Amino acid sequence: MKYCYIHTFGCQMNVRDSQQVADLMEKEGYLVTDDLKAADLVIVNTCSVREKAEQKAHSLIGRVRRLKAAKPELVVGVMGCLAQQWGKRFFDRSPHLDFVCGTHSSDRIPDMVRKVRENGGNLEDTVLREHPGSFNLRVPSSPGSVAAYVTIRQGRDNYCAYCIVPFVRGREKSRLPGDIVDEVAGLAVRGVKEVTLLGQNVNSYGNTLDNKVDFPALLKLVGAVEGIERVRFTTSHPKDLSESLMDSFVEIDALCEHIHLPLQSGSDYILKRMKRVYTSEEYLEKIRGLRRRVPSISITTDIIVGFPGESDSDFEKTIDLMEKVRFDNAFSFKYSHRPGTAAESYDGEVEESVKSRRLAILQKLQAEHTLEKNRAMEGGEQEVLVEGISKGSRDDVSGRTRSNKIVNFSGESILAGRLVPVKIVRGYAHSLRGEMLQGGVKE
Ligand code: 5AD
Repeated sequence: MKYCYIHTFGCQMNVRDSQQVADLMEKEGYLVTDDLKAADLVIVNTCSVREKAEQKAHSLIGRVRRLKAAKPELVVGVMGCLAQQWGKRFFDRSPHLDFVCGTHSSDRIPDMVRKVRENGGNLEDTVLREHPGSFNLRVPSSPGSVAAYVTIRQGRDNYCAYCIVPFVRGREKSRLPGDIVDEVAGLAVRGVKEVTLLGQNVNSYGNTLDNKVDFPALLKLVGAVEGIERVRFTTSHPKDLSESLMDSFVEIDALCEHIHLPLQSGSDYILKRMKRVYTSEEYLEKIRGLRRRVPSISITTDIIVGFPGESDSDFEKTIDLMEKVRFDNAFSFKYSHRPGTAAESYDGEVEESVKSRRLAILQKLQAEHTLEKNRAMEGGEQEVLVEGISKGSRDDVSGRTRSNKIVNFSGESILAGRLVPVKIVRGYAHSLRGEMLQGGVKE
């Protein structure tokens, strides 16, 4: 028996790509393991969106070099955005690598592994294809899993000044609605209750299709699939968040009351330099539009601090906007230069110590807001989709509300995959504590 170890850095797209590769390797007779030392094949699925993610990937690849020294037959490969970005240069930096597989070629990994085993290493495939084979590969969700990711579009045509994604994921391309619905229906048959539709900018879904099913129409189709109780999507660009998409939150029962809407900055000057093509007021207007329709909607965001040219007063504007919106959660990052992006040549570099200070202020404020939001849920009833036994305690199960918050409550593993009514008894910084209400468990 041969073992395959896959480590995933970065976004849900990468998680989904890794699931796909794991499945392909299982078909080749490999058993997927979490034990790096036991592996005969190591694949590092990389992310290049920020410098830190890049460093982490290089450091893991460095550790694998020692393993390979002790076990020369070990096959080692990289995939994902960093692989796409570095191409053959990866072999100069890490000569122990056997293959480098770009973002459009992950379906070719089994073939690459076979070739490496037969003829030795140094294979590279980073062609950005018009019709990537990996695009339509389905991921059979593992038995018992309740939630699954489904890719609806790949690539990105927006060029935000800080962002490397368009360079490493290729041009925008939407999958056909029929293919998506078929995949979702197949997942539902296997017991999946929740699907998250993935794309770098899901809201512009359909722009590259002739038959013009737009994103709200696609949500309707997916929401109507028998057995699918919950639909989520990520990620949205505020500029494409249309009135009709906002209406979808009211009109489509299965669509969960949560949106991840990256803000990036609250300063119009910085937003313009970032090429985000909306103002802080326009962003706020979208938030109002969402909350008018669904007052309890959960809103999460991404924010960058220390973008070139960001003054104290620009940063204050971000803080002001956070105060106005009061996000349920925010992922916040220090700006890091990414090769080839427009911002790389911008002046006004912000000192590292200033970035750190701003990040700390922002994160402290967000922690207060998150806690406030979670506390406000105390006493209320939530529908929880149970994922399984809780990480913290064997006596608890863990699941998510429709607003995507984690709830732990006393219960048994038999509840996994069920929708359970739960009373929230306590809101914490990162999760909620609940008590199961009797009677209403949905199969
Ligand atoms: N520096 C810091 N953060 C970045 N992000 C994207 N590119 C950069 C960069 N160069 C952040 C954005 C994006 C999230 C996925 O990562 O906030 O929404």
